[in-house]
Amino acid sequence: MKIHISNIELPRGKLAPQKRAIMLAPTLVVLVLIPLYLFIDSSIPLQPPSKVGLYKGLWSNFRLEKPCDVFRGEWVLYPNATYYTNETCPLIIDQQNCLKFGRPDTEYLKWKWKPEGCELPRFDAVEFLEIAKGKSVAFVGDSVGRNQMQSLLCLLASVSHPEDITSRYTSDTINFRRWFFPEFNFTLASFWAPFLVKAVDSDSNGHTYTSIMSLHLDEPEEAWAREVENFDYVIISAGQWFYRPMIFYEKGQLVGCSSCGLKNVTEIPRFYGYGMAFRTSFRILLDLKGYKGVTFLRTFSPGHFENGPWNDGGNCIRTRPFGKEEVRLMGYDLEFYKTQVEEYRAAERESRSKRRLKFKLLDTTEASLMRPDGHPNTYGHSPHKNSTFNDCVHWCVPGPIDTWNEFLIHLMKPEIPRFSFWKLRRGA
Ligand SMILES: *[C@@H]1O[C@H](CO)[C@@H](O)[C@H](O)[C@H]1NC(C)=O
Ligand SMILES: *[C@@H]1O[C@H](CO)[C@@H](O)[C@H](O)[C@H]1NC(C)=O
Ligand SMILES: *[C@@H]1O[C@H](CO)[C@@H](O)[C@H](O)[C@H]1NC(C)=O
Ligand SMILES: *[C@@H]1O[C@H](CO)[C@@H](O)[C@H](O)[C@H]1NC(C)=O
Ligand SMILES: *[C@@H]1O[C@H](CO)[C@@H](O)[C@H](O)[C@H]1NC(C)=O
Repeated sequence: MKIHISNIELPRGKLAPQKRAIMLAPTLVVLVLIPLYLFIDSSIPLQPPSKVGLYKGLWSNFRLEKPCDVFRGEWVLYPNATYYTNETCPLIIDQQNCLKFGRPDTEYLKWKWKPEGCELPRFDAVEFLEIAKGKSVAFVGDSVGRNQMQSLLCLLASVSHPEDITSRYTSDTINFRRWFFPEFNFTLASFWAPFLVKAVDSDSNGHTYTSIMSLHLDEPEEAWAREVENFDYVIISAGQWFYRPMIFYEKGQLVGCSSCGLKNVTEIPRFYGYGMAFRTSFRILLDLKGYKGVTFLRTFSPGHFENGPWNDGGNCIRTRPFGKEEVRLMGYDLEFYKTQVEEYRAAERESRSKRRLKFKLLDTTEASLMRPDGHPNTYGHSPHKNSTFNDCVHWCVPGPIDTWNEFLIHLMKPEIPRFSFWKLRRGA
């Protein structure tokens, strides 16, 4: 697949304003009297005003802070970007342990995400664990979802030692994982559900990378649906598995298929199945009586195969991020992204009118699209092992996927009350 070079063209949703505003309740009245002044723009970095500066500065120093969408931006060089290595974090799994398997270039570890118009704070493990104290986080999805969990695990392990409690819950210790941080009474789990909905391998020749899957679009995969009720944060994602041939069922009836090659079955776009999988998942969460958690949609994670198809020599050998003008989301990736965000918005609306559960968009797609250099390629296994494909789908740990968790903690931070509408910043 050749990656096209042109402007980023991500559909822009509602802005997620940066929440670092300084609140100045006592001065509100005064400020209301001088609203005109507030519309003067400023790009001066945010810093807390001193009490003196606060009053003295009223007439000259305050500016209205422009809402900043942390998910739009670019990668900038930052040599200290890595939080841990294969030596300091013993929990990295081989498939993502690019350092261990001798990836020769280390440039890919030296970038940080710079949103347009603000800063994305560095990941602070202590702060995360303080927020997450007594709580639980579940990643639901495929191995890319688990990949983010592995990154989070390493980010936190520098501060507090996690216990592997997987075997108390399941015998499938690869696809379902649970970790417990006793000092913080915090649980981290991952639930394997690559299609989110119930999926059955239905290839008569057995399971392969391209075998047909039967999806029951209106039934969730029980393996997560029966487990997440008591979780405080649930991060839903799905991706590359929907490139497979699929047969779709609803209410137990066959409704069509995508690339299944069966002549008497109606072809339905794969995006239909993808959208339904999210719709069903969000509905299940909205219907779970005991569920009071915050639901995140972690958006589509693009793969970066170049120089051939994924199953025929495709690889990802770049060693630098794309610049803003060098890549744009397009084709199937764009359709997947748009489809899931649409379902997310619908669920959010429904929640507002019904149960008032919180929904948040963990919009990692643009940042990830710009990181063709972040995948294991051939460094997810020993060089002596024969492997069929290069891995341009998962992400090296450490690597750009750590930024997904910078976004995550940013969204988990407590909300600032409504009147922070008066977002002020102090000029020079
Ligand atoms: C990078 O790390 C080194 C050593 O830990 C430190 O001395 C330096 O100040 C750091 N630089 C930045 C920009 O944070
Ligand atoms: C970490 O990676 C280096 C190569 O970068 C390797 O020599 C070392 O054995 C690895 N350590 C562990 C614990 O995997
Ligand atoms: C630990 O957190 C759980 C909720 O995740 C709570 O039910 C339990 O009471 C907490 N235990 C302690 C010792 O704080
Ligand atoms: C499609 O055709 C195959 C064989 O020709 C048959 O076994 C199958 O039941 C048919 N499916 C439907 C939905 O009609
Ligand atoms: C890898 O595959 C090649 C060709 O299929 C074979 O000759 C070689 O012995 C294999 N190596 C290992 C370590 O399995």
